[in-house]
Amino acid sequence: MTSSQELPIVAGTTTLGGLVAERPQTAVVFERLGLDYCCGGQQTLEEACRSRDLDPETVATMLAALENAGSSAGPEGAHDLADATVDQICDHIVSRHHEPLAETLPRISELMGKVVRAHGADDPGVIRMADLFGETRSELEDHMRLEEESLFPACREVAGGGKAPSAELLGELLDTHQATGEALKQLRELGHDYRPESAHCNTHRVLLHEMREFEMDLHMHIHEENNILFPKVREAAS
Ligand SMILES: [Fe+2]
Ligand SMILES: [Fe+2]
Repeated sequence: MTSSQELPIVAGTTTLGGLVAERPQTAVVFERLGLDYCCGGQQTLEEACRSRDLDPETVATMLAALENAGSSAGPEGAHDLADATVDQICDHIVSRHHEPLAETLPRISELMGKVVRAHGADDPGVIRMADLFGETRSELEDHMRLEEESLFPACREVAGGGKAPSAELLGELLDTHQATGEALKQLRELGHDYRPESAHCNTHRVLLHEMREFEMDLHMHIHEENNILFPKVREAAS
């Protein structure tokens, strides 16, 4: 799926969410710079850059250079969904994000357990990280179940002329996205920015690598729901 019309990048008006929806490859730059394009996707490029003490024009130039280089490589699982139907977006989110998480979440929990057993006594930070990951995992599992059982069927119906999902359900899911985004930031702090040199052992190094991948996938996952799926559903319902 390829976007047919790409708008020019204007730092003062282009939003991060809109930019990644049109050009998924820009997510790599935002991940590197720590710019929030999922729950903070409504911010303009200028607002996001100012909040991180970055020069918006320089970042806009970096993004344009990416485009001129013809780069289409985004983070793992990044797809251009700008022209996809609601059905296709729901299918994509389930197969590229929800289903893989059913394997990723227990794998990370197991690694966390090993690292806590080996190093928790000397480094309480790994215990806090494991506790927060456990809470986040449990909330995510409930959240994805709710999306698959209630939200996505309602979204598919709207696209076919049915009733819109309730504002209450949408609000609840958006709140969880926000809370998950905050948890990801705290996990990264507890994980020392996931720098391999901060690891106590090889298992810890593998864990930090897995956490980095988990974070990037979840950013893209939330972005696709908040900034691509929900606006399309709202548009179909109006
Ligand atoms: Fe989801
Ligand atoms: Fe979600």
